[in-house]
Amino acid sequence: MKNKIFIKLWENISLEEEIISFLKISLYKALSLLKVISKEVCLTLTSDEYISKLNRIYLGRSYPTNVLAFPLNKGKGPMTSHLGDIIISVDTAKKEANLYNLDFENYLLSLCIHGLLHLLNYEHEKGVYAPWLMQKNELNLLKKLAKKKGKKELLNFVKRREYMPAKLAVNVDHVATVREARKSYYPDPVHAAVLAELGGADGIVLHLRLDRRHIKERDVRIIKEIIKTKLILEMAIDENLIKFAKEIKPYQVTLVPERPEEITTEGGMNLEEKVEEVKKVVKELNQSGIKVSLFLNPEEKAMKLAKKTGAQIVEIHTGIYAEALNEEEKEKELSKIEIAARIAKDLGLIVHAGHGLNYENIGPVAAIPEIEEFSIGHSIVSRAIMVGMEKAVKEMKELILRARS
Ligand code: PXP
Repeated sequence: MKNKIFIKLWENISLEEEIISFLKISLYKALSLLKVISKEVCLTLTSDEYISKLNRIYLGRSYPTNVLAFPLNKGKGPMTSHLGDIIISVDTAKKEANLYNLDFENYLLSLCIHGLLHLLNYEHEKGVYAPWLMQKNELNLLKKLAKKKGKKELLNFVKRREYMPAKLAVNVDHVATVREARKSYYPDPVHAAVLAELGGADGIVLHLRLDRRHIKERDVRIIKEIIKTKLILEMAIDENLIKFAKEIKPYQVTLVPERPEEITTEGGMNLEEKVEEVKKVVKELNQSGIKVSLFLNPEEKAMKLAKKTGAQIVEIHTGIYAEALNEEEKEKELSKIEIAARIAKDLGLIVHAGHGLNYENIGPVAAIPEIEEFSIGHSIVSRAIMVGMEKAVKEMKELILRARS
């Protein structure tokens, strides 16, 4: 049996016949691309007033939204033939298409596809991989179904509307700092790395400083052997460290500037007049199968120079944001990070961020959609002293997760 699409146009809504038939044909094609057969879908094109009413009745919120989906199948039992209802507010769709500078028909289509995936039980508000899967399907379908005019902009928009929460790489340097305070053998950053993983860390970061004030080669070697996630080695550009990295082969090296007297990394690398030097290091590490990240201040120029070095990742320095003394300063620094992240992603770079982030200030940066990973150390290790490493990591992950859900 063939699929069936029913479209209802709300009385006070006017929409050209051509657009309605584009949506209908696209929904048929989408079902077929998704290998769905013998199902029915009902699409209602309505007003802000009606969608607000539905929002109030079913979701307890009294404002209009762009799309609602009411799946009949909630993942339990066999799929019924009627998949459910997609409700779109044409009023909101028009306003948003204008606001985002998108082609209206294509934007309406993206809302239909979004709703359809919900009817098939795809989710972007729960879990870690479900949002990724939903977005992947949305992009695949839109690539095939969107009209040529404005397609690129629509795909970029959907890509930017990241659903995935960022990952968390935990830096355990300061466990070694406590150990070195007594030149003892405990606490061991090796144990901390394992506990951080149990708490949900997506990677372990170690900064092997030139003066070896906390992390030592021994820590890096053992942690590389035993962790199940990825090892990220932070280091300055130094011949011996490059040799060591090539021997250990961490997943990633983050290149940072280092000043012997500094308490902690003070800022991003200055790439000006250094592009060729950094490019050589990137190439050398890449040839050993190591990805390279550059720690940079949130500046357009830095992102552009990073691209020239061939590095795969940029880590945006969040230290100035973290240290801002008042809300105004904080806002200003946050928007610098946002802009730099957007520029870097547009250049095709993977965007990470870190330094000075803690349980109070992580929220706004964790909401920036381009940032894929945070590198956090001091605040997590400090909290771990009070509540344990596993819990401290779990709590930070929860905040990161919440920022985009
Ligand atoms: N990212 C980089 C490049 C760093 O050098 C550091 C500090 O080692 C961090 C992130 C983590 O900073 P914090 O310890 O303040 O969380």
